[in-house]
Amino acid sequence: MALVTTTEMFKKAYDGGYAVGAFNVNNMEIVQGITEAAGELNSPVILQVSKGARAYANHTYLVKLVEAAVAENPQIPIALHLDHGDSFELCKSCIDGGFTSVMIDASSKSFEDNIALTKQVVEYAHANGVVVEAELGTLAGIEDEVCVEAGNEAYTRPEEVEEFVDKTGCDSLAIAIGTSHGAYKFTADQCTRNEEGILVPPPLRFDVLEEIIKKLPGFPIVLHGSSSVPQEFVKMVNEFGGNMPDAVGIPEAQLRKAAELAVCKINIDSDIRLAMTGNIRKYFAEHPDHFDPRQYLKPARQAVKDMVAHKIVNVLGSDGKA
Ligand code: G3H
Ligand code: 13P
Ligand code: ZN
Repeated sequence: MALVTTTEMFKKAYDGGYAVGAFNVNNMEIVQGITEAAGELNSPVILQVSKGARAYANHTYLVKLVEAAVAENPQIPIALHLDHGDSFELCKSCIDGGFTSVMIDASSKSFEDNIALTKQVVEYAHANGVVVEAELGTLAGIEDEVCVEAGNEAYTRPEEVEEFVDKTGCDSLAIAIGTSHGAYKFTADQCTRNEEGILVPPPLRFDVLEEIIKKLPGFPIVLHGSSSVPQEFVKMVNEFGGNMPDAVGIPEAQLRKAAELAVCKINIDSDIRLAMTGNIRKYFAEHPDHFDPRQYLKPARQAVKDMVAHKIVNVLGSDGKA
């Protein structure tokens, strides 16, 4: 199968009560780990590239790595998506350069300016057979160069979504219902602590999601900032020389519930970073004399694969849905 858009994936996911995982890719090991898991589990998957990933690895390298993954896993649908595009030019460059889906994130602009920029991207994308994800509402955390402090995020306003989708023609909509980017999603005072002293974040705003679904029946919704920051990997990082105090994420059960509703795409990046970093730190601590990158990147790649397999089966529910 060649690279696909997300149109068919989202239709099946919406009707089937599951979500497709969108995982950020920055190098070969990450691409391999994600697609080996998706391939073995017969799951659709979205590989997404941020502006920062393009700056790090180069557009052509990333596209060619993804093309290699498509060739190695012909049995599953794979989409190549621009994550958090912040300008028409960036979106155009990815549309012209082989991506099948782009996100234009104009969520920090006014409602009117968000509509105008999103519409401009949609017109160019659709003319070239590419689909567009847009965003309404802002998440806390770091999105490339935009950093929104916890407390300054704004939930998506359900009363705005219909007009936004009608006027822009976007194909899917990222919303803010309490998820947040990065490994430090919430400050300690936004959370409670459980008996083990681990921070428990405030629950996602399912009431806002339900209102949005009523306004946009059948329309695919996207959740960013959906890493769960598994504490076993935070512990692994900290045990082997790292220092990540109070890193906390979105409980997986809440994401599973969202996937059963209209949420068709769930973005996960930080959990992959955490699994790789924990395993590389552990490897170095246990093998201080090793210096061959293939040796320490092998368990890191396996950790990506295990993490993605876990998400596909336990969070997304997309196994067997290719
Ligand atoms: O939401 C952002 C993604 O986690 C990508 O992060 O901008 O560091 O590549 P990045
Ligand atoms: P996390 O930082 O929670 O993994 O979110 C990733 C994301 O939303 C990428 O767009
Ligand atoms: Zn995001």
